[in-house]
Formats: sequence, C-alpha cells, structure tokens
Amino acid sequence: MKKVVLAYSGGLDTSCIIPWLKNKGYNTIAVIGNVGQGGDFKKVEKKALKSGASKVYCLDLQKELIEDYILLALKAGALYEGKYNLACALSRPLIAKHQVKIAKKEKADALAHGCTGKGNDQVRFETTFRLMAPEMEIIAPVRTWEFKTREEEMDYAKKMGISVNVTKKNPYSIDTNAYGRAIECGVLENPWTEPPENIYAMTQSPLKAPNKATYIEITFDKGIPKKINGTPYKPVSLIKKLNEIGGKNGIGRVDMIENRLVGIKSREIYENPAGTILHTALSDLESLVLDRETMRYKTQASQKYAELIYNGLWFTPLKEQLDSYFNKAHVFTTGVVRLKLYKGNCTVVGRKSKHSRYKEELATYGEKDTFDQKLAEGFNHLWSLPFSK
Ligand code: ARG
Repeated sequence: MKKVVLAYSGGLDTSCIIPWLKNKGYNTIAVIGNVGQGGDFKKVEKKALKSGASKVYCLDLQKELIEDYILLALKAGALYEGKYNLACALSRPLIAKHQVKIAKKEKADALAHGCTGKGNDQVRFETTFRLMAPEMEIIAPVRTWEFKTREEEMDYAKKMGISVNVTKKNPYSIDTNAYGRAIECGVLENPWTEPPENIYAMTQSPLKAPNKATYIEITFDKGIPKKINGTPYKPVSLIKKLNEIGGKNGIGRVDMIENRLVGIKSREIYENPAGTILHTALSDLESLVLDRETMRYKTQASQKYAELIYNGLWFTPLKEQLDSYFNKAHVFTTGVVRLKLYKGNCTVVGRKSKHSRYKEELATYGEKDTFDQKLAEGFNHLWSLPFSK
C-alpha cells in the first residue's frame, strides 16, 4: 500500500477521507496541528486511528503560529481587503510545512488535505506542498469523491463506524485558532441576513458588554507587542490575554463579503479581538514615529503582503523580501499606546515613543509656537507653479 500524510482535523470530511483513501490503496498517516482551536486532542487522535489511520502525529504549533506567522503579519499591517486579519490563512502554510516534514521522514508517497475545490485553503496547502515536496503526489479527495452532500458523507461515515457530530442545528463551517475565528455557511450565506448572536464564541455582544470602558496600555518594541499595562507577556499569552479583554468588550467582530482567490465572493464572519486591538494600536504608533513617505509606502506594501498570505504565497521570495522591508520600517516603532475598549469599539486615546516625530512646538497654535509662517509664502507659490498658466 502507498503511504499518504493527511492534514487531519477530526471533522466529518477528514474522517471520511481516511477509509476512502484506504479503498483507493493508500495507508493514511494523520497529522493533527494544534493551532489553538481547542478541544480534546486525545479524542481526535483516537478518532483518526478508529477511522483507519495507521499512525497519528499531534503537533503543538501555537507558539510557532503566533511568533513566526501572526506577529509578522501584524508588523506588515496585513489586513485582507482592509478587514480580515488572516488568522485562518496564516495557519495553513504552517500546517502544510509540518505535514511535508513528516511525509519526508515517513518516506510517504503522497500528501492529502480535506479542503474543497471552492475555497482558498486548497491553494494554501497545495502551493506549500508543491514548493517543499514537488516529488510527492497531492490528493484532495473532497474535490473528486462521489459524495454530493454532507448527508451522503454522514451516511458513509456511519457505515464506516465513524462517529459524526455535525447536526442540522449547527450548519456552520467554523475555523478557529489561537488568534481568531471564522464562521461561514448556513443562514450567513444570505448577505442580507444579520449574523445570529449564537455564532459567536470569542466575543461578547457589544450590547451586553460592560457599561464602563476598559483602558489598556500596550508596549511595543520594534513593532512587536511586549507588555499589557506594563506587565511583560510572551507572545502566546499576550494574544490570549488580549482576546480575553477584547472579547469581553465585544471587540473584533467583522462581517464581510470577500473575494476568494478562485473568483467566488463569499460572506464570512470573523472574530478577532486581539488582532483588532493590536492592528489598531500598532498602526497608530506608526503614525507617531514614521515619516510621511514611509507611511504612505508601507500601506501599499501591507496590501501586497495581505494578498500574498491570502493567496497561499507565504513561502515565496517576495514575502521574505517584504519581511526585510517591514523589519527595517519598524526600527522606530517602540513605544506605548493607550486604548479605550467600549462596547465593540477600540479607540486609541494616547500614544508615546522616544522616537516620536510629533513636534508640539510646530503643531501648536499657542505660545510655544516656533514655526516660521513666513516660509509658507514661498512654499505656496512653488506648489501651484506646475499648474499656473
Ligand atoms: N475566508 C477565510 C480564508 O479564506 C476563512 C476560511 C475558513 N472559514 C471557515 N469558516 N471555515 O482565510
């Protein structure tokens, strides 16, 4: 039998894939990536074996996800189509990379994933597979198998003795990790329908959030968040803490229609309290310390970087080149940002940095003013010169 390494989640699709592949002559090694989705991993491991996997690897990838992917995307200011902080998109190349590592160690013949042919995740997995293990076969059963509906899959799972926990009552497709959560399908497929309150798990409804504002201070060192209210945190616990504080205050709900790489528009709901707080805080600190030209240029680079992540191009030369650029751009983003969290709103109310470019003596209209207004006359003259007749 040939050997295949499968990215396994324990959900209906990947559980059906194991017996389905066996039937096609493949022996499955399941790889479970713990990216902070929660749940009982021992149970998931057992389920993989019960479904017919010959071996299971369960990897704790949370630290790597946050330190080597999420913090880079934060420094880059990467928000896809201006709104999505790419939590799900960032986890895919990471899982795929580890899958390839295991496949090489196990001398496997193939790599498999449980993504559909309509989404972005297939591209993120397969691009990484192709770049890191071009010699291996890639199998995407969900794109080709005979099941037309979830119900048919459920019947198959039952026949194969696999327990199924998908019900008609919970029709959503959800992706969760340590950074954020994405929810789609069900009633959300109608873009006019307001998301029902029960889809949310990381955030409190702003309506039910505390009536008093929560103030927090975040300290950054060269674009990396280091402290909350003066207390140092390691990256994983910093994100956890901000998700907690932000979630309580209803911060980070996003309802968007986005353009998938495959050309389909989709409606997705995101919850990402920590990401919302961090992006808001860091971009504000940037506005204090960066010169105008860097700020303008960085916005363009941010958009490109977000597209690279969304489109599965994490392990590419341009992404690496842009990291060097962002590192250079962040040499001055050291300082503290003070935010006010209140019923879904995350507002910066103060910022300070030893690298501040803000000069009160130039900005002020008060007594301390040192700006020589006479200089402006010539400036105005020359500014309009190219257009004068
Ligand atoms: N649209 C997001 C992306 O492409 C999330 C995909 C997964 N969403 C989900 N609800 N299962 O990155």
